[in-house]
Amino acid sequence: MGTKHQPPPEYAASLRKAETSAVAPLGPELTERLRAISHGYCIGEGGCHGPDHTERVHDLAMHIGRLMGAQLDILSAAALLHDIGRRHEMEHRGKVCHAQKGAEMAEGILIGLGLPAEKIAAIVHCIETHRYRNDKIPQSLEAKILYDADKIDSIGAIGIGRAFLFAGQVGARLHNRMSDITNTTSYSVEDTAYREFQVKLCKVRDTMLTPEGRRIAQERHEFMELFFRRLEREINGDDTARNPNQP
Ligand SMILES: [Fe+2]
Ligand SMILES: [Fe+2]
Repeated sequence: MGTKHQPPPEYAASLRKAETSAVAPLGPELTERLRAISHGYCIGEGGCHGPDHTERVHDLAMHIGRLMGAQLDILSAAALLHDIGRRHEMEHRGKVCHAQKGAEMAEGILIGLGLPAEKIAAIVHCIETHRYRNDKIPQSLEAKILYDADKIDSIGAIGIGRAFLFAGQVGARLHNRMSDITNTTSYSVEDTAYREFQVKLCKVRDTMLTPEGRRIAQERHEFMELFFRRLEREINGDDTARNPNQP
């Protein structure tokens, strides 16, 4: 018998099992293998696209996936492997698409691990469409969820932190006062966090593909707007003006 606050042992065991299968729908062993492979590729990507990002996207994807009755095994594998091609994109300063490259790499890994062909095809589709570019559009429910999870991790307080980290990685300034950011380019000294917000992050909310994605993105969007308005104020010195009522 359990105490008032502790379930009986057999119930606790089934709860633990449910917990494990909720966070590791592929089973603990395969999940850990994919996690280790993913982290091995992503560890060199710094704070923006390193293993921490992968884990946050995985958590978000599992959350949305459970709400929507998605195939969690496909989603879990896709989330863990979605950015393994990042290094190639960084090395080529954005000229190689990491989603395409990552999908090719993932296919080889999953064949090596002996997954069924239809599962591999579904996982590869999620990875190659997770940027939602041109003809690479998320078609399956799992691909739509991975897209939302990945994009949600680029906004809100985490998004702001990542934008500054990325700016640091490419040697950009903290901020520039140029009002016309259309004359600036990515991967340059002007590729600031504020530019990232203006060019990309402020649009993320409106691209969500699932209801839960939209809900989370709306809240994170509001926080980002607040932060960047405040940044502008401080950069322009508006917060240093003396209070006329004080000596
Ligand atoms: Fe990505
Ligand atoms: Fe990502």
